[in-house]
Amino acid sequence: MHKAIVVPSPGGPEILRWEDVDLPEPGPNQLLVRVGAVGVNFIDTYQRSGVYPMKYPFIPGSEFAGTVVAAGLQVRGFAEGDRVATAEGGGAYAEYALLDADKALHVPHGVSDETAAALPLQGMTAHYLVNSTFPVQAGQTVLTHAGAGGVGLLLTQLLKAKGATVITTVSTDEKEQLARAAGADHVLRYEGFAEQVRELTGGAGVDVVYDGVGKATFDGSLESLRARGMMVLFGGASGQVPPFDIQRLNALGSLFLTRPTIRDYLLTPEERRWRADELFGAVADGTLDVRIGQTYPLAEAAQAHRDLEGRRTTGKVVLIP
Ligand SMILES: NC(=O)c1ccc[n+]([C@@H]2O[C@H](COP(=O)([O-])OP(=O)(O)OC[C@H]3O[C@@H](n4cnc5c(N)ncnc54)[C@H](OP(=O)(O)O)[C@@H]3O)[C@@H](O)[C@H]2O)c1
Repeated sequence: MHKAIVVPSPGGPEILRWEDVDLPEPGPNQLLVRVGAVGVNFIDTYQRSGVYPMKYPFIPGSEFAGTVVAAGLQVRGFAEGDRVATAEGGGAYAEYALLDADKALHVPHGVSDETAAALPLQGMTAHYLVNSTFPVQAGQTVLTHAGAGGVGLLLTQLLKAKGATVITTVSTDEKEQLARAAGADHVLRYEGFAEQVRELTGGAGVDVVYDGVGKATFDGSLESLRARGMMVLFGGASGQVPPFDIQRLNALGSLFLTRPTIRDYLLTPEERRWRADELFGAVADGTLDVRIGQTYPLAEAAQAHRDLEGRRTTGKVVLIP
């Protein structure tokens, strides 16, 4: 047996249970990992609440880092004692978790479990957004939201490294300071942000918006774009965007709209390795700062969810078993 957080049915953070569960057995292509740290992501809250339908009961969590304690017979490239991390696991809110070996990343020497659990999901998301969904060029101007959040702080750093001008939104002074420290050129509050973006861009609008806030910002984000700009809706921290009239893209300037998800940007082992190597490399050479804003004991996952959903977190939220 081991301890895990279990979601028995859809509900609020109070639904989470800290329970004894059976220790899983690795299949032929799987690793059994002793979890050292778990990354909390907004998707965990969508799955807990039923916004994304799940089969209940389930153990949440797709991002974690830890040490391999057993490897399936057909596993190549990983062995007992190796330190691994992933953005694509399952059942990570636990003392032990199974991991398909083809979704495992080697953790470089010198990187702690906390950092290795903080980087994969939000880091690979920021990486695919700026390199693949809309490949940003030096000199372009970008709007992002929640600039002091987990994805937000990483996005700004990757965008500045590409030579873009970054405009971002935040809700508090403390978050503004963090967004500026990450390199944001202009930090706005949400109210009236579209008009302020127009002013900052001399009336032109931005080349791309990366919007993970969703319902509350979607319309303003569209209004912030230049003609033929791209709207990248990648999440709904404020709620999901309701059905959309495609004709609006015409009226607002022949805009492009996409709704990406990380799964489709990790299609091959090469793609996964490219993104992970660049991110862990940037951490190692000091050009990417992974800010862990708050750490909770795993048993207190409910409080972590309350704080994430209540806008009380900055950077990454990590759980320690
Ligand atoms: N599509 C993908 O592949 C993918 C992958 C990873 C994450 N995501 C999405 O990226 C977004 C950010 O995820 P994250 O884990 O990095 O979270 P986060 O940005 O650390 O936290 C969410 C932030 O959103 C802002 N926000 C604005 N309105 C909000 C509201 N009504 N309720 C709650 N928060 C609100 C808050 O910052 P302020 O207080 O400054 O407004 C809050 O801190 C989420 O929508 C997530 O689903 C998508």
